[in-house]
Amino acid sequence: MELDLLETDEIRLNRQPILPGTTLPSSPAGDYLQTSRTSPEDVCTTRTPRSQYRIFNRTDVVAEGWYWLLPSAELNRGAVRAVNILDYELAVFRGADGLVSALDAYCPHMGAHLAEGKVEDNQLRCFFHNWCFDASGKCTDIPCLGGKPRISVSTRSWHVREHHGLVWIWLGEGTPSSIPTPPELIGVEIESSLGNHFIKNCHPNVVMINAIDEQHFQTVHRLPGHILHMDPVANSLDHISFFNTGMVPATQLIGRLLKSFYKNVLTYNLDYWSGSTGTVTLGPDFLHLYLMFALRQTREGKTEGYAVVFTKKRLGFIGAIINSVVLFLTKLAGLYFAHGDTRVFQTIKFNFATPIAADRAVISFIHHLEQQREFSRHIE
Ligand code: FES
Ligand SMILES: [Fe+2]
Repeated sequence: MELDLLETDEIRLNRQPILPGTTLPSSPAGDYLQTSRTSPEDVCTTRTPRSQYRIFNRTDVVAEGWYWLLPSAELNRGAVRAVNILDYELAVFRGADGLVSALDAYCPHMGAHLAEGKVEDNQLRCFFHNWCFDASGKCTDIPCLGGKPRISVSTRSWHVREHHGLVWIWLGEGTPSSIPTPPELIGVEIESSLGNHFIKNCHPNVVMINAIDEQHFQTVHRLPGHILHMDPVANSLDHISFFNTGMVPATQLIGRLLKSFYKNVLTYNLDYWSGSTGTVTLGPDFLHLYLMFALRQTREGKTEGYAVVFTKKRLGFIGAIINSVVLFLTKLAGLYFAHGDTRVFQTIKFNFATPIAADRAVISFIHHLEQQREFSRHIE
C-alpha cells in the first residue's frame, strides 16, 4: 500500500505497514520517524507543502468502521429520522419490534425523502405514493399496482447496531467488527451513560489527536512536564492504543501524591478506532474511569460528537448508587479535559507543517490511520 504521509526533506516516515501487536518505536531515533539530524529534539524547519493524505483529515473519505448516527433515546418505536453522514442521506427508523434500520433516504420511485414517511410495523412507507420498504430495503407494497410489487425495487440498507446509548452505522465493505468499547470492559457487565454533545470547528481526526498531544498537557492543562509519555501499540488494522509510560519524579510534591495512588505510572491509556472513536482509561489503580468520545464529521466539515461514560456494573442498591457517582465523576473528568481545548478548536486551521520529536504519538496516529481501509462515496 502506497503511503504519502508528511514527508519533507528532513523528516521521513517509515513506509512499512504496522502489523497488529506491533509496538511502534517511541523515539524518533528509532526507525519509525527518521530525521537527517542527530538530535531527537531537532525541529524540522522545512516548510514544503504537505502531500495529500489518503484518509487523515479528509472530508470525502473516512476509515472503514463504526460511526455514531444518533442517540438511541431520540428514536422511539415507530419514529423515523433523517440523518446525513459522509454526504449520504439516510432514513433511520425503529420498527414495532424495537429494532433500528437505516435505508438510503431517497425513494427509488421518484426520490421523495423516506424520512417524510411513516413506520408501519417494521417497515417504512413513503409519504409520496405510499410504496413500502422493509428493513432490508426491499419494496414490499406498491398500492396503485394492487399491493405486492410485480417489479423488483429496493433501496440500500445499511448495517446498524445499538450500543452504549447510541445507534451506530458501519461504513465499510468488509465484515463489521465489534463496536468500540474500553478494552478493560470487554466481557464484563457494564453500565454506561451518554454525556455531553459537542460541536468542534475542525475535523474529527484533529480532535482525536488532542488526547495524545503530550505538549498541550503542559501548556493548556498545566500538568507537570514528563508526567505523560504516550507509547503507541497497533492492535489491528483499525485499532491503535496509546499507553502512558511517563513517570513523575518523586522529588516533586505531585509526584509523591500520585505515588500513593499508582503502583507504576499514572494510568492514562487511549484506544482509537478508525480515527474517529476513542476511549480514555484513567484514574488511580483502585478505580479506573472510562470515557468514550464518539465523533463524526458534519456536512460543513466540523466535528459532532458525544461523550459516553462507563463503569463496571455493581449490583444492589448500594452498587447502583456507587455506579451513579462514578459515572458522574467520569463526566466531570471529561468536561475537565474538554476545557481549554475548546478555545483552540474554534479557530484552528490544522496544518501539521513542523513535526518535532515531541509529536511522536501524533505521527503514529496519522501513520496508523493512513493504512486503514478507506470508505468514500466512490466505493459502492
Ligand atoms: S416517491 Fe416514494 S412512492 Fe413515489
Ligand atoms: Fe486537551
